[in-house]
Amino acid sequence: MVVTVVVGMYWGDEGKGKIVDMLSDKYDVIARYQGGANAGHTVKIGDEKYVLHCLPSGVLTPGKENVIGNGMVIDLQSLTGEMSDLAAKNKKYNLYISNSAHLTLPYHFALEKAHERALEKNVDKKIGTTGRGIGPTYTTKTERTGITVGDLRNPDYFREKVQINLDWYKPILDVFGDGEKLDADEIVAQQLSFYPVIKDMITNTAYLLNDFWKKGKHILFEGAQGTLLDIDFGTVPDVTSSHPISGGACTGTGIPPTAITDVIGVLKTYPTRVGAGPMPTLMPDDINEEVRKAAGDEIGATTRRVRRCGWPDFVAARYAAMINGLTSVALTKVDVFDGRQQIFICENYKHGDKIISEFPASAYDLAKYKPELRPIDGWNNTAGVTSCEKLHDNLKAYIKRIEQNLEVPVSIISTGKERDSTIIRRPELIFPKVA
Ligand code: GDP
Ligand code: IMO
Ligand code: MG
Repeated sequence: MVVTVVVGMYWGDEGKGKIVDMLSDKYDVIARYQGGANAGHTVKIGDEKYVLHCLPSGVLTPGKENVIGNGMVIDLQSLTGEMSDLAAKNKKYNLYISNSAHLTLPYHFALEKAHERALEKNVDKKIGTTGRGIGPTYTTKTERTGITVGDLRNPDYFREKVQINLDWYKPILDVFGDGEKLDADEIVAQQLSFYPVIKDMITNTAYLLNDFWKKGKHILFEGAQGTLLDIDFGTVPDVTSSHPISGGACTGTGIPPTAITDVIGVLKTYPTRVGAGPMPTLMPDDINEEVRKAAGDEIGATTRRVRRCGWPDFVAARYAAMINGLTSVALTKVDVFDGRQQIFICENYKHGDKIISEFPASAYDLAKYKPELRPIDGWNNTAGVTSCEKLHDNLKAYIKRIEQNLEVPVSIISTGKERDSTIIRRPELIFPKVA
């Protein structure tokens, strides 16, 4: 059986949703393993556009088993809202939710707002989060006061835990907060009102997934965010609070590392960033604007913030290939560069006289590095192309260059938003044993 992890190789928004949706047909099970409503995964099917936050992108392919793993954090208002939106569009799917996934509760939102405000005011170091309560939810998880989906089954225990959190965090919110009135009974009542909607979906997804695996089902793990937003390996401190990397699929679901057969890295033709933090290859403002216009959508799918665009960064991509153990790359949005005479690529950074070929461990160092930009000839007419032979020669040469740099083959090329604007360049690498 095939167990594939799909991960983002930059700072998120690489087109993971499109790739997972496109691959879903070949798999039996699609599972998310980290993040929460901070994710915004866009899938276009015909004239219909879906933006998924908590639900795996497999929900859009009929007949699949979809799983929300223990590594995710769940805002039940957002999740049930997403479910209602799909119901309104008559979309039917099977969904299982881990009883160990942690809940994002009203005090997490309040704490995040207070923390961002303090960071901005005191040291001008706001992270620019998505405001979905993600960091504080993972904080209470590691602090061991977090509350899980499974805790909804025992209202008294649930209330006790909410009170413990309110007692602990109230002094912080009194100083830095917005004067939010947080009441344990109200929080419990609100959360319990969502419970009937998800009750029958809650289970121990670690056993479920291992069972699926033993029965020979093909499993696809959908990463959210990207490698450079990983809490350990990203541009700390401007990162998210989970593990978007392939290793996160194990801790975030209970599937053993030995089960994973392949890892596909989604590499957008150019990196983008929302929120704070350096991006060495940032494009000049005018080109940034042109690229955003050409893409039509470099606006955050979750927060509607403008995404900053950069030239292709091979230092970052080589790092992502290493950390994730990529078996192949899905190159997305090549069509956005259609018509560009010249493209600049960065194979190394420099710092004074020094050439830097390794991605640094912190944003502090990354901010000091300058890109060594090298011009290459651009390409044209790739939008909607579905066969490799029809691709412009300069793009073919560029793909070879990616492969040389990363020492990983490019298996998929995405030439547009739609499912079928896709080239499967190396089918044997992505569907190794799937008929
Ligand atoms: P994700 O978070 O990684 O799933 O990516 P997002 O959905 O946030 O952002 C990717 C955007 O690019 C979405 O609007 C997609 O519809 C779009 N997209 C994905 N692949 C392609 C492609 O090959 N070409 C173009 N033009 N757009 C694409
Ligand atoms: P998808 O799955 C792009 C960024 C935020 C901020 C940092 C921390 O759509 O690729 P958080 O709310 O997670 O605490 O914010 O991470 N960020 C994303 N950027 N795409 C995402 O998800 C992101 N999720 C978080 O902008 O810089
Ligand atoms: Mg996104």
